[in-house]
Amino acid sequence: PQQYAFQHGSLQVCSLDHIFCDGALSSYTTAQITRLLPDRAHTAFKGLGDKPGLYIWIDSNLSQGAESYQIKVTTKQLRLSGADQAGVLFGLQSLAQLLQQFPTALPCLEVVDYPRFAYRGMHLDVSRHFFPVDFIKRQLDLLALHKMNRFHWHLTDDQGWRIEIPGFEKLTSIGGYRECTVVGHTSDNPPVYDNHPHSGFYTREEILDVVAYADERGITVIPEIDVPGHAAALLAAYPEYACYSAADQLTRDYKVQSRFGIFTDVLCCRDDVFVLLEAIFSEVASLFPSEYIHIGGDEVKKQQWLHCDHCSGLLAQLKTDDPEALHSYFVERVRKLCLQLGKKIIGWDELIDGDVDPCAAIMSWRGIEGGIKAAQKKHPVIMTPVSATYFDFYQSTSRDEPMSIHGLTSLHTVYDFDPAPATLPADQASCIIGTQANLWTEYMSSEEQVESMLLPRLCALAEVAWTAQPLRQWSNFQQRLNTWLPQLQAAGYAVSDAACKPMATTDIDDDSQLIVSLHCDRDNCDIVYTLDGSEPTQDSARYSTPMTIDSPTTLRSASVHQHTGQQYGDEQLSMVPHLALNKPIRFAHAPDVSVSPLGGRLLVNGCLATDRIFQFHEWGGFDENGMDAVIDLQTQQAISSVSVGFAAGQYRRLYFPTGVNVFGSNDEQQWQCLATADEQTIKQSAPRLCLTFNNQDYQFIRVVAENNNRAYSEEDRSIIAMPIYIDEIIVH
Ligand code: ACM
Ligand code: ZN
Repeated sequence: PQQYAFQHGSLQVCSLDHIFCDGALSSYTTAQITRLLPDRAHTAFKGLGDKPGLYIWIDSNLSQGAESYQIKVTTKQLRLSGADQAGVLFGLQSLAQLLQQFPTALPCLEVVDYPRFAYRGMHLDVSRHFFPVDFIKRQLDLLALHKMNRFHWHLTDDQGWRIEIPGFEKLTSIGGYRECTVVGHTSDNPPVYDNHPHSGFYTREEILDVVAYADERGITVIPEIDVPGHAAALLAAYPEYACYSAADQLTRDYKVQSRFGIFTDVLCCRDDVFVLLEAIFSEVASLFPSEYIHIGGDEVKKQQWLHCDHCSGLLAQLKTDDPEALHSYFVERVRKLCLQLGKKIIGWDELIDGDVDPCAAIMSWRGIEGGIKAAQKKHPVIMTPVSATYFDFYQSTSRDEPMSIHGLTSLHTVYDFDPAPATLPADQASCIIGTQANLWTEYMSSEEQVESMLLPRLCALAEVAWTAQPLRQWSNFQQRLNTWLPQLQAAGYAVSDAACKPMATTDIDDDSQLIVSLHCDRDNCDIVYTLDGSEPTQDSARYSTPMTIDSPTTLRSASVHQHTGQQYGDEQLSMVPHLALNKPIRFAHAPDVSVSPLGGRLLVNGCLATDRIFQFHEWGGFDENGMDAVIDLQTQQAISSVSVGFAAGQYRRLYFPTGVNVFGSNDEQQWQCLATADEQTIKQSAPRLCLTFNNQDYQFIRVVAENNNRAYSEEDRSIIAMPIYIDEIIVH
């Protein structure tokens, strides 16, 4: 809570035999009170009296505003007032937590509590995998437990259309069904598919049921109809809404996609498309009382617009050749359409790349920069950056984590996130209305998987969203998790143990020594490790301080729960000190930092990614230009081998370089070829190619990894260059 103070004395819970309840409370709220304190007499609340008991009422004058509540415990009375229905409900959640902790005698105290942000959300993608209404309701319960108040329901995407629209039955009968699903990572070489059709959609009745269920719990459901991209399922049902060119005779066949990615299939900008969208958004507006509808707008590939007779003509009319103008045009028409239906729009931060009306709320996902730019233009902003709120990313680097999409969002990363950092000017910070966890379900086909990706990270985000930044304390949060998570588990929720698992991080000290540290996001675990590659046990060395690594070492680590003795995790990191460690590295074509945030540094950081789960940030990603890297050893050194890693460890099958050449030089002008490997040799040496040669003295080493990999891309509907990923360049 924002403010609380314990006072002398206590209140016997058994003495609370009378409940004075405000008649304005909803039947759901009163039922919650009865659930919390059963078998008590109820009387209508007529103002505070002297009688002992629990008083619960709505006080619209509470100075902390919407959703706030206050609890006061004296030796005779328990008073709970909320500024509104939601405030009372949130107060009841806190009261339930107090009663859990003090089941017989509540200490006297005062709580004054209110949310930092008005928008505290969770997004769930039900397109990539469909989840039934009962499961959605369980997640709404979970949100309510955490005082969260928005459920962003991602109902349409390339892999399935999940909302019934009267008059357009094919949206669900065709668009809601896919033949099969990619198994393993979507970009594997080669992609592999299962043979199981996947389908499902929500009827009007089911949606109304979910909306009402959420409303009882103080949660607004925000539906998303993602346009104009991510439209493959819609186009599979109604291909007539795609772009058209007389020259290519509309030969494209559209299908509900069985893999995940960013597809070229987009809605055309013709008028008839907006007639369809009017029917869709009218239905959506009638089902969802939310002030906002989410219209997507993300990841729109614009090639089809450029080749379409209508869209290219429209672009000419708009007097530009920048297809971004069509994106803005499309969004503006949908915005107006929603406005006529009494709704405002939310869109992903691609909206801010073009011109968009300031009434549109912006969901900043590619980072917080889009959100800041939007705040500068006075848009309402919801911060949902991939770096901290994408709960489809791995929770730990441990090798026993279930396969997930490439990135890492640890519990601590989530907790550390500040949606409106103090460095922002106040007028921009005030535009940031909240934050949200995004759960894309590419690699989550079961309900249990979804829950264990949410928990415990949702607990951290709930606190980010609710509690004032200066009050938040990681160590305090860690302690409270120890009592909170068992309660969630007792309620049947699947909670990931990822935060119990140790993770290794490395650094290079001032003496150019490689240092490795281990840490664990839970505070009730000891870390054990071995340095010889053997599996750690409870009797292995206990970790206490960072260790210097001065020879090739495979660290393996697990953690041991201090009370139960249970062992968690399988963290493995191979480290190799070598001549190029931490030396300057330059590239003819730098690795894509959006994929490899550390850029080239991770190729000379002494850590091998090849025996780990594949996570982008541990690899250098290179396009069709391949890698052309020059490492400056800073003095002449005797060199006899160079090796490069290129095949991911677990959960990913990568494209390999198609040739590798190593050169040496002392002036960066004259290069001596030291060794070379062809495609066949590279394949045979996976995961790492080691090239040896006679000892020679060089200052500069140049490593060229060729990339001639080309393959058919479902996303682009053409043969395209495939990226390669490179791991540590080891020089001896
Ligand atoms: C998104 O993750 N494409 C919004
Ligand atoms: Zn078109």
